[in-house]
Amino acid sequence: MKETAIIVLAAGKGTRMFSKTPKVLHKIGGKPMVYHVIDSSLATNPRPSKIIAVLNDDMENVRQQIQDVCHIGIQKEQKGTADAVKSALPHLKGFKGNIIILYADTPLISPHTIQKLLETLTSDVAVSVLGFNPEDPAQYGRLVLDNENNLSRIVEYNDATDEEKMIRLCNSGIVAVKGGLLNSLIDKINNNNAKGEYYLTDIIQIANELGHKCSYVAADASEVAGVNNRLQLAEVEKQYQDRLRESVMMNGVTLIDPQSVYFSHDMRIGRDITIHPNVFFGENVIIEDNVEIFSYSHIEGASIGSNSVVGPFARLRMGTEIENNVKVGNFVEIKKSTLEKGVKVNHLSYIGDSDIGKNSNIGAGTITCNYDGFAKYRTSIGKDVFIGSNSSLVAPVTIGDGAIVAAGSTITENVEDEALTIARSKQTVKKNGANIFRDKKLSDKK
Ligand code: UD1
Ligand code: CA
Repeated sequence: MKETAIIVLAAGKGTRMFSKTPKVLHKIGGKPMVYHVIDSSLATNPRPSKIIAVLNDDMENVRQQIQDVCHIGIQKEQKGTADAVKSALPHLKGFKGNIIILYADTPLISPHTIQKLLETLTSDVAVSVLGFNPEDPAQYGRLVLDNENNLSRIVEYNDATDEEKMIRLCNSGIVAVKGGLLNSLIDKINNNNAKGEYYLTDIIQIANELGHKCSYVAADASEVAGVNNRLQLAEVEKQYQDRLRESVMMNGVTLIDPQSVYFSHDMRIGRDITIHPNVFFGENVIIEDNVEIFSYSHIEGASIGSNSVVGPFARLRMGTEIENNVKVGNFVEIKKSTLEKGVKVNHLSYIGDSDIGKNSNIGAGTITCNYDGFAKYRTSIGKDVFIGSNSSLVAPVTIGDGAIVAAGSTITENVEDEALTIARSKQTVKKNGANIFRDKKLSDKK
């Protein structure tokens, strides 16, 4: 197979997003759209020998994050998709392989579909376009076919006649061009159209006029939906979430109500896991086998060991490491903490910057006071410790192995192994005091 290069167009201003963030940095499944497209490019077989991303000069942060895997072309003024391709061409001087052009606002394109498109470039087909039949053709460009089903041109929505608007076969934007041709085709594009832009889509008519045959291949609409506004962002997010849900279910995870569970692009999850309705997973989550997550839990940056149970209403934040057989119950928040095997934190707790040794039991309402308004400090709890309900552990503080802390304690000093600590004011009992109190109140009233 011939060498390939991929151009990723990402320089558009994304005005329809009404955002200070460049459109292609808006996220799907927690990952910016442009990285979805780059990752699919990198996974294409054979691996492209070059990927060139076209950015505008306002995208320094994007450049820094992708320059290890991509060449960068800068498009100074956003004069249209053909002009954007031009900014990539200096990186392709002398390149004779096939070229694929992807749009960074079309994030769900799969490596498999890119390959399929490449395969349509045969000895007599010079340019091939990925088309699709969306439920609502909306403002997509339309593919105009000739009598032999070859592609004769693409007409942009704004330039289409009423008759052309009736065409349901749409342009995904993704194009494959035979090596060596792209330069000369792009050079012939002008901006005599409704938007006054240089349309990449014009290369089809130009190629045909020069006697090169053009074809198309239809892709699944769910893979090539473009994102121009936040409504489409949500629609594509839904497509992507459905993919992730399907993939985890097909690999041994029970989702009681799939539509209400949200995953991140990098979710790592084992088998025989049950996830109850309304659970959200952010980035960097690892879940081992036989875990059960109850409803309304929000989990990110956390690893959960096998046979553990989390929620309902649990919040696990960045740096939470939960070993096997742990129970984290309702209204518990955990951050930057390690819970060793068999730990229980069942109700109403905040555990931050803490290490808890195996089989320790943290009573209801326990709070690690990790912050003094200036810095964060760690709480270290040994193994087999029992912390009574409604205790405050003021960090930095260490509770030794096997220690017991009485309910309602505020612990400010370290507790030795096996010690019992009570840190609360002593209870006073006045015999018959309730009656004396009531009598006094009643006589005051008279
Ligand atoms: C484009 C296609 C349309 C197709 C649709 C599919 C053209 C002229 N039209 O329209 O036929 O149905 O995509 O989603 O190509 N970009 C640049 N520089 C520019 C302009 C755009 O890099 O000057 C990039 C954008 O960042 C984006 C992509 O090119 O990733 C597409 O641009 P956009 O303006 O969204 O084109 P559409 O109007 O969606
Ligand atoms: Ca678009």
